[in-house]
Amino acid sequence: MLQIEGAVLEDGKSPNNWDVFCHIPGSIKNGDTGDIADDHYHRFLEDIEIIHSLGVNAYRFSISWSRVLPRGRLGEVNPKGVLFYSKIIDNLLLKGIEPYVTIYHHNHPQELEERFGAWLSPLMQEEFVHFAETCFENFGDRVKYWTTINEPNLFTELAYLSGRYPPAHCSAPFGNCSSGNSDTEPLFVLHNMLLSHAKAANIYRHKYQLKQGGFIGIIANTFMYEPLRDIELDREAAKRALAFYTAWVLDPLVFGDYPPEMRQYHGNELPRFTSEETKSLTQSLDFIGINHYSTLYAKDCIHSTCSSDGDRAIQGFVYLTGERHGVPIGERTGIWRFFIVPRGMEKIIEYVKERYNNMPMFVTENGYSPPEQQDEQEEDLVQDAKQIEFHKAYLAALVRAIRNGADVRGYFIWSLMDSFEWVYGYNTRFGLYHVDRQTLRRTPKLSARWYAKFLTNSGHNHVADATPGSSKIKDAILTRLKTQKAEM
Ligand code: BGC
Repeated sequence: MLQIEGAVLEDGKSPNNWDVFCHIPGSIKNGDTGDIADDHYHRFLEDIEIIHSLGVNAYRFSISWSRVLPRGRLGEVNPKGVLFYSKIIDNLLLKGIEPYVTIYHHNHPQELEERFGAWLSPLMQEEFVHFAETCFENFGDRVKYWTTINEPNLFTELAYLSGRYPPAHCSAPFGNCSSGNSDTEPLFVLHNMLLSHAKAANIYRHKYQLKQGGFIGIIANTFMYEPLRDIELDREAAKRALAFYTAWVLDPLVFGDYPPEMRQYHGNELPRFTSEETKSLTQSLDFIGINHYSTLYAKDCIHSTCSSDGDRAIQGFVYLTGERHGVPIGERTGIWRFFIVPRGMEKIIEYVKERYNNMPMFVTENGYSPPEQQDEQEEDLVQDAKQIEFHKAYLAALVRAIRNGADVRGYFIWSLMDSFEWVYGYNTRFGLYHVDRQTLRRTPKLSARWYAKFLTNSGHNHVADATPGSSKIKDAILTRLKTQKAEM
């Protein structure tokens, strides 16, 4: 997990795409890098104590590809990398915490980028399968919940459309990068990611699942959308935005092809799946992981005039904004397009439930970071009442969806502690724990204390404060969280 591990070149780890990117001046806010991050590589035992003290029964983390296979398929497995994750898994299990492991979270050995362009090339599929299999072989005896790829849609958008993540590819009007094509590259990259997922999941099914008895899924980043104007065109635009982002990832894995709207607007640029591939895609999911933070307004750009970036097929001819007449859709947070809109959680879960026949779901990320202030002090940062409010409201919305029949099996707060927040660096803080950048000391915020009380049912600060009649909400959540293992 690049955002917390640090130990950038220790014990045989090779540099990955982010390690290199961070050192290109101007890439990351304040010139921050992930070289040390939260030093979790050396402090994981302390961190597992913290996790345990919260009373959670599950912890999600990802494997750093360049730590386990520094040269990809060309080289050997790095025993020290395997040992590190093995120790994490064992120590979690010892404490009765179920590890939920994401195989790929935005980072891969830089060598793959340089040798063949990483995700732009179909060669990446075999590399990924090799990496995934290495994980199943080494950890699958103890890991029962696998997700192959975290947010292929968000990664693709940021790395190949807006060019803000490595390898920083884009073209006008989306950005000014030295190479790339924002209209087409995202389509090829996501295609390779889906096929990589499907191949890895099928190997898991055929070689490991029966023996190891686990489950495998993928994680989609999701926004909910509301019409900017109260007109049919914008209601259609909001639906199209869902198709071009969430369903872009999930439709192929459930129905075997991209959403019909994407076929309609992209024409021949949208890659096709062979019948073999369709078969393997549709057999590749046991559950769907949803990361959800925010809701945006959608404006139609087919019949209405829009700014140039909304007016493109790759955006579904939809213009997205967080504001209507200068008024934000919800309270602002530390990330420019994340607004606090709890009802969006209920609606996105409802959408996934309806569209995908109520397949088992996990909310694999949901969280809040405050807007950055000048001269922030630890004493103020740990008084994060807003984060508590955020979680109460989003959890209450989630429970409304569960009450309405959605098969949601678990919920993960993003994140345990403040960490390397990609291009935002360290001043965008999602943690339940504050991390002092000098001493790396972890300090619980109010939200950590609240969450622990909430989970162990031992406090007065109930989620029931969120909406009237919601003490039942808390019971429903607790039952869900406690029984998710047994149900699958
Ligand atoms: C990513 C996390 C990130 C979070 C907050 C998600 O897109 O999976 O790595 O820290 O959003 O921005």
